Amino acid sequence: MGRRPEVAIVGELNVDFILEGVPRDLPEERELLASNFTMTLGSSSAILAHNLALLGTSVSFSSRIGPDPLGEVCCQWLQQAGVEIDHIRCVRNGSNTGVTFILPLVTTRRSITYPGAMFEMGIEDLDTAYLASAQHFHLSSFFLHRTLSPHIAGLFAAMKRNGLTTSLDTNDDPQDEWDSGLKTVFPELDILFCNERELLKIAQMENADAAAEKVSAAVRMLIVKRGARGASVYSQGQRMDGPAISVQVQDTVGAGDTFNAGFLHRWLRNAPLEECLAFGNLAAALSTTRPGGTEAFKDSGYRERFLAEHSSRGPQLQL
Ligand SMILES: Nc1ncnc2c1ncn2[C@@H]1O[C@H](COP(=O)(O)OP(=O)(O)OP(=O)(O)O)[C@@H](O)[C@H]1O
Ligand SMILES: [Mg+2]
Repeated sequence: MGRRPEVAIVGELNVDFILEGVPRDLPEERELLASNFTMTLGSSSAILAHNLALLGTSVSFSSRIGPDPLGEVCCQWLQQAGVEIDHIRCVRNGSNTGVTFILPLVTTRRSITYPGAMFEMGIEDLDTAYLASAQHFHLSSFFLHRTLSPHIAGLFAAMKRNGLTTSLDTNDDPQDEWDSGLKTVFPELDILFCNERELLKIAQMENADAAAEKVSAAVRMLIVKRGARGASVYSQGQRMDGPAISVQVQDTVGAGDTFNAGFLHRWLRNAPLEECLAFGNLAAALSTTRPGGTEAFKDSGYRERFLAEHSSRGPQLQL
């Protein structure tokens, strides 16, 4: 069904409710006020899909939602960005679509997720033959796929057998166990994305350089996102650093997922790693300038101006 996408993404789909200006302490029995509210597309996988499609890569998204308005609005947002959504299954007798409440602080944030349908997405919700028709396969939020979890390594292996390139972003493990068979997926990966905190957890180490050395020995390419310090690529025993772009940050929600979008957009076109890294940092910087992970990308005039203006200052980037 539908045309063959360049990138097939499997992942969770929920809405972000972002409440800005909430006090750091949350006393009981008080009417606390937020200074701004944004309801926008949430989920690491969905933010990546949305922004990658708007950069010009063709993307399909496979997921499971509940029969409720939140699931419907997520599908509309993805479709408006040009994402192929025929493989999002709406299941009537399961849980509703999940939600995340985000309370941004200055450089950090509080985040609470009700997983809903994402905990119930199973292998039977996915059309593996369709996924295998893409050129690249990606899955985000490894630890949020409770039902799919035992099948994830097999899914990646099947995609590799079919000749696809693959990538995974672990994101956080809410159980803080950092296992669930993650290492069995490593041999099937072309790219492992994580942030610095996640890297330490995956490696079970306290030193970031030692952790990167250990994890990069187990995957073809490791990418570590370092917030305002940019990101690093580890590939074939070499490390390459790319600085972040200096911008007026509104919030960093979804910046990591948008970095993945920028990096993959260039990597899938065989750009040199330096350029992939620079474009990942550029896309991520754009995402930090508006609330949530997709608001800055939705505004096409703003997006194109930002990308053109900043790429003319950095290494030669082909948009
Ligand atoms: N203050 C900042 N200024 C400019 N760019 C930033 C800033 N913070 C983050 N970025 C960009 O966003 C990228 C991702 O940041 P981060 O390390 O927060 O990833 P993450 O934790 O995976 O994010 P997410 O919360 O989306 O999962 C960085 O590599 C950088 O390019
Ligand atoms: Mg992340």
